[in-house]
Amino acid sequence: MGVKLGILGLGTVGTGTVQLLQNSGFRHPLLQLVEISRVGVRSLDKPRAVTLPQTVLTTDLEAIVTLPEVDIVVEVMGGLEPARSLILKAIQNGKHVVTANKAVISRFGDEIFTAANQAGVYVMLEAAVGGGIPVIQPLKQSLSVNQIHTITGIINGTTNYILSRMQTEGSNFSDVLADAQQLGYAEADPTADVDGLDAADKIAILASLAFGGRIRLEEVYCEGIRQVSKTDIAYAEKLGFVIKLLAIGKRISSSGAISITVQPTLVPKAHPLASINGVNNAILVEGEPIGQVMFFGPGAGAGPTASAVSSDILNLVAALQTGTSVPNPLLTCGHQDYCQIVP
Ligand code: NAP
Ligand code: HSE
Repeated sequence: MGVKLGILGLGTVGTGTVQLLQNSGFRHPLLQLVEISRVGVRSLDKPRAVTLPQTVLTTDLEAIVTLPEVDIVVEVMGGLEPARSLILKAIQNGKHVVTANKAVISRFGDEIFTAANQAGVYVMLEAAVGGGIPVIQPLKQSLSVNQIHTITGIINGTTNYILSRMQTEGSNFSDVLADAQQLGYAEADPTADVDGLDAADKIAILASLAFGGRIRLEEVYCEGIRQVSKTDIAYAEKLGFVIKLLAIGKRISSSGAISITVQPTLVPKAHPLASINGVNNAILVEGEPIGQVMFFGPGAGAGPTASAVSSDILNLVAALQTGTSVPNPLLTCGHQDYCQIVP
């Protein structure tokens, strides 16, 4: 039995995902069962880097999420609305959802996961944090026996790319931002990257998983890199530091109080996060009894993000084929915590 996808969006991530799925049969036999039923876009006239039958591409995204033949809706359109409403409608229509949209999950996670629980469907979001780095599943599953006390991350590829090039080449902020946009790393509105909001959404999700609470975006102290100048970087260098946009989630008291921050930070050159350059991300997790674990890899871009989206699709396809639950079960149950749901 085939599994039909309705994909919302054919930009950087959507295109990378379609390319991966169209060429992935040899990587995993189960992906051969996947059929792309519809792909929703804003404009039918735009040139596309992938070839799809004419009947597949549509501007009617509402129709995709209600189409009876669609089993999984893959939301890679970004933004808050209509992405949130379309995800909810897909869930209400019994579709499993894969999303790369950290903004929607961080701000409307409760609503979405409550709806998913009621409908008995999964919402998967490996691509929402860390681009191609598998970090959501490991945090929720393999590390869940630990008491995590700190997560320190470089979790925005665009700002790390900008800071790295300002550091190594003395480049101007605005020139490098334009390159990051051209390379497909930045959000449609790059303000979210530059002002730290994208990292704030991501650390809110990671901290919710790691600390077992529900962190809201407005609880994250957030400062971006707009004020960081080439002079700041040069002085930091002289003093033995690099400047990184760090997102930090930390238990600060035994009663469970948590501090969550995103801000440009002086990182000693010998620190493992100091050498994470370009679009790469890294997430250092510290806890008991594990000690320190660091996840590292490409934090944005078509191929890496498509890898994460497709791994979620694969897990869902495997579950649908065998009639079992998702092998690495994920989210969630609403108000207090992200927790496991088994449809
Ligand atoms: P993008 O390149 O801007 O692509 C967005 C796509 O969605 C486009 O195909 C666009 O259609 C379509 N779209 C947007 N709004 C629409 C609307 N109202 N109606 C119909 N179609 C609409 O975005 P992206 O970089 O692929 O990012 C997508 C999502 O993945 C975002 O949530 C982002 O945060 C997340 N993400 C991105 C990356 C990355 O490296 N880029 C990595 C991880 C996660 P048109 O093509 O017709 O304009
Ligand atoms: N704009 C995001 C970044 C995409 O630069 O990290 C990956 O989530």
